[in-house]
Amino acid sequence: MKKIALGVTSSVSIYKACEVLRGFQKKGFDVQVIMTPNAAQLISPRLFSALSGKKTAVDLFGDDDSDRIAHISLAEEISLLVIAPATANIIAKLASGVADDFLSTLYLAVRCPVLVAPAMNEAMYLHPQTQANILRLQTAGVELVLPEMGYLACKEEGWGRLVTPEKIIEHGLALLEKSESLKRRTVLVTAGPTREPLDPVRFLSNRSSGKMGYALAGEALRRGARVILVSGPTSLYPPPGAELRPVETAAAMAREVKKNLSRADVLIMAAAVADFRPADRSEQKVKKEEAPPALKLVPTEDILASLARPGGRSKKVIVGFAAETRDVIANASRKLREKKLDLIVANDVSREGIGFDSDFNQVVIIDKKGAVVESPIVSKREISRLVMDRVEVLLGRKK
Ligand code: CTP
Repeated sequence: MKKIALGVTSSVSIYKACEVLRGFQKKGFDVQVIMTPNAAQLISPRLFSALSGKKTAVDLFGDDDSDRIAHISLAEEISLLVIAPATANIIAKLASGVADDFLSTLYLAVRCPVLVAPAMNEAMYLHPQTQANILRLQTAGVELVLPEMGYLACKEEGWGRLVTPEKIIEHGLALLEKSESLKRRTVLVTAGPTREPLDPVRFLSNRSSGKMGYALAGEALRRGARVILVSGPTSLYPPPGAELRPVETAAAMAREVKKNLSRADVLIMAAAVADFRPADRSEQKVKKEEAPPALKLVPTEDILASLARPGGRSKKVIVGFAAETRDVIANASRKLREKKLDLIVANDVSREGIGFDSDFNQVVIIDKKGAVVESPIVSKREISRLVMDRVEVLLGRKK
């Protein structure tokens, strides 16, 4: 029997948590309830203990003095952590990594998917700080079932009402299913820029932040894949569980991709690989007075194109990206054909506020048959989901 944890915090909608608990039980799950100390002021933990058949955890240092550290062992046992209802306070704590009670500590210890269902007064929900915290959680890979508009405890109509228990259960089940959809698959992702050195201190590079590639790596991990992340220099932390292969130059990236390709089912080239590098690299720092009047550049190897040769990619799903400043669809479709890709994700990098270095993007996804899907402006996390959904369909066809 699979075990899940249900975190319950102090919103008036706490009574709906009983239905959430029952719903998961009916689907065959063993549920351990954790309440925050404030939630335990609203409803007795005994009610949840009676419903779940297990003692509800409230205190980080409970009366159990066994050798096992309760929140760590629970973290290892569960397949899903659901927090419903989630107050503005718990969301803020999770977003900033504060771990001062059982629930917030458990959150930091789990590796399974996390589902958060906020519930609060409209002003609190719409407060920029709460919205920023929610975005931060989403970026960290947490799934949210956002509240609805409706009648609130403060006797007002507004945004902030907890969604129905059925909706929470439905989301939880989908998340559990998805968390295994790429099990036993290996996804090779490249991310970030490359640096092409001129001398020991100077290089040519580009504005890629790596955020898109890291989001894709995170999404593949959440779906149960083994992830190899070949990354140019970025300021990001790799998603936990990804096997990081740091590289600097396009040549090093090409080597690392080829080394790992045979074990991969999917290659996603999200990196902004330099197309050219300085022809000469000085061993010593070039002095001001010695600066050449012009730089001689030579092309780098096109990694994707080099894999287009027969035999280089049997049964693999190959996804490219296209950074364009004009004629996005036409240019991306040409790259899809020339590089023999299964899918290309194109974006207009000349637009303000999306693309390079932003947390948001708007893309056009084109497949081999010429089908074009345009996304709205959404977070890179959302884009990574769209792309991985398409990858899963293609993997199914290539079985
Ligand atoms: N790419 C690659 N090796 C390179 C350059 C690019 O594998 N040396 C990959 C990128 O990772 C991306 C795709 O090719 O997935 C398209 O990259 P992009 O820079 O948009 O296109 P280019 O082919 O470099 O063409 P151009 O710069 O002329 O637009």
